[in-house]
Amino acid sequence: MIKSIGLDLVEIARITADVERYGKRFIQRILGPQELEIYNRRHDKELFLSGRFAAKEAVVKGLGQYLTDRPPLAEIQIINDPSGRPQLELPPEMQRRISPAQCILSITHEKKYAAAVAVFVEEK
Ligand SMILES: CC(C)(COP(=O)(O)OP(=O)(O)OC[C@H]1O[C@@H](n2cnc3c(N)ncnc32)[C@H](O)[C@@H]1OP(=O)(O)O)[C@@H](O)C(=O)NCCC(=O)NCCS
Repeated sequence: MIKSIGLDLVEIARITADVERYGKRFIQRILGPQELEIYNRRHDKELFLSGRFAAKEAVVKGLGQYLTDRPPLAEIQIINDPSGRPQLELPPEMQRRISPAQCILSITHEKKYAAAVAVFVEEK
């Protein structure tokens, strides 16, 4: 059963401008440690960062069903499985609070925009 969804759209130029203005500090506010390693290896850094930003904002919207406080974006990590599918990784305490829900994510990025949707589902 679908319990909650979140959707977000990001203008890539806005993310690029924030990276130019605030540098590492901005990137580290968005990406967790594993994601930072991936970011450093990616050739499409702006797309990756914008996609992660959109996905995390989408997750935060969906999490509103379960949490009262907005978590820092860097605490929410999204790691691609071997097929490329993005998988949400929450800190154990946050995962416990959404249990037994699972989050299904989809991310897309084009030249100007990145978008993502997060769907929280629970077994009936
Ligand atoms: C993966 C795929 C969706 C990428 O499409 P695209 O138009 O080139 O790129 P988009 O910007 O729309 O999407 C890229 C995002 O898709 C996601 N993605 C990658 N592989 C994926 C997969 N196998 N399943 C779901 N999502 C995937 C990733 O989040 C990626 O962004 P990220 O690497 O920054 O995390 C496309 O190559 C595809 O359809 N591949 C086949 C998927 C598949 O294996 N299907 C099985 C049979 S239907």
